Amino acid sequence: MDSHVVSDSGRATERYLEALKTIITASAYDESAWRVIETAPLHSAQGFGGRLRLGLKNAVVRAFARRGIVLCKARRFSAEARELGRDWPMIGFTMTGKKRLDNTRLAVETVLRENVPGDLMETGVWRGGSVMFMKALLDLHGDRTRTVWCADSFEGLPPPVDDADGDDLSELGYVKVSLEAVKGNFARLGLLDERVKFLKGWFSDTLPTAPVERIALLRLDGDLYSSTMDALTNLYHKVSPGGFVIVDDYQQWPACKRAVDEFRATQGITEPLHFVDQDAVYWRRATI
Ligand SMILES: C[S@@+](CC[C@H](N)C(=O)[O-])C[C@H]1O[C@@H](n2cnc3c(N)ncnc32)[C@H](O)[C@@H]1O
Repeated sequence: MDSHVVSDSGRATERYLEALKTIITASAYDESAWRVIETAPLHSAQGFGGRLRLGLKNAVVRAFARRGIVLCKARRFSAEARELGRDWPMIGFTMTGKKRLDNTRLAVETVLRENVPGDLMETGVWRGGSVMFMKALLDLHGDRTRTVWCADSFEGLPPPVDDADGDDLSELGYVKVSLEAVKGNFARLGLLDERVKFLKGWFSDTLPTAPVERIALLRLDGDLYSSTMDALTNLYHKVSPGGFVIVDDYQQWPACKRAVDEFRATQGITEPLHFVDQDAVYWRRATI
C-alpha cells in the first residue's frame, strides 16, 4: 500500500512540474508565439529608404501606443520551438524553453540530493521564469535553507562596451522587465517569500559586493561578453565543489562563449562542458 501512495505522490509531483513548465514557458497558449511590434532606433535601418520606412513604422506604433493599442504580428505556435527555447514568447516567464528548465531541475535536485552547500543564483533573469522554477523546486523538496538570488538591471541589457561585446539589445523594450513585474510574477505562482532576493543594477556594480556566501547553482544568462565575464569573475570562486555553472548563451552568442572559454583557460578549469540543447552548456565544479 505504501508503494502505491509513494507512486501516486510521485505522479502528482511530475504533473505539477509539467504544469509549471507549461505556465512558465506559456506553452498552453498559441498567442504566446505572437510578436509585439516595437519601435527601433533609426540608426538600425540601412540607407535612406530603410530609415524612411522605419520612421513611418515607428510613428504608427507610437500613435497606436498613445491610444493604449499594442500592435502584434501573429505567428504560428511551434511546440518544438518552445521546447528548445527557440522563440521568444510574447507572454510567459522565460525565453529558455522546457528543455533548459529540465536542466535547471537536474541541477537543483542534484545539489539537494548530494547536499552541495550554497544558494541558487541567476545573473540575467528577465521575467523571472528560471529563478521561479528554482524556487518552486526548493519548495517542493522542502528546502527552507537556501536563497534564490535574482541579479538583473531590471531595465534590460546595457549597450555593448565595444564591437566584440555582442549584439546591441539595449533599446529593445521586450527585454526590459521591471523589478516590480518580476516580483509580481513570483507572487502570482505563490513563490515569493524572504528566500527570494533581488540584486538590482548592472552586474559590474552589484556582483562585486553581492552578499552571497556560497553558491550551489550559478546560472548565467546575460548574453554579452562583459555580462558573462562580470558574473564569472565575481561569483565563480563562491561556487561550491560539486556545484553547477550553467551558461545559457554559450552556443548562440559568440561573445558569451569567448568569455567562458577565456575564463576557463585562465583559471585552469578543465571540468567537461555538457551540452543541454542548441544554446546552453553546463559544468560541475570538481569535488576535491
Ligand atoms: C536573455 S535575458 C534572461 C532570460 C532569463 N534567464 C529567462 O529565463 O528567460 C537577459 C537578461 O540579462 C539582463 N542583463 C544582461 N546584462 C546585464 C548586466 N550587465 N547587468 C544587469 N543585467 C543584465 C537583462 O536585463 C535581461 O533581463
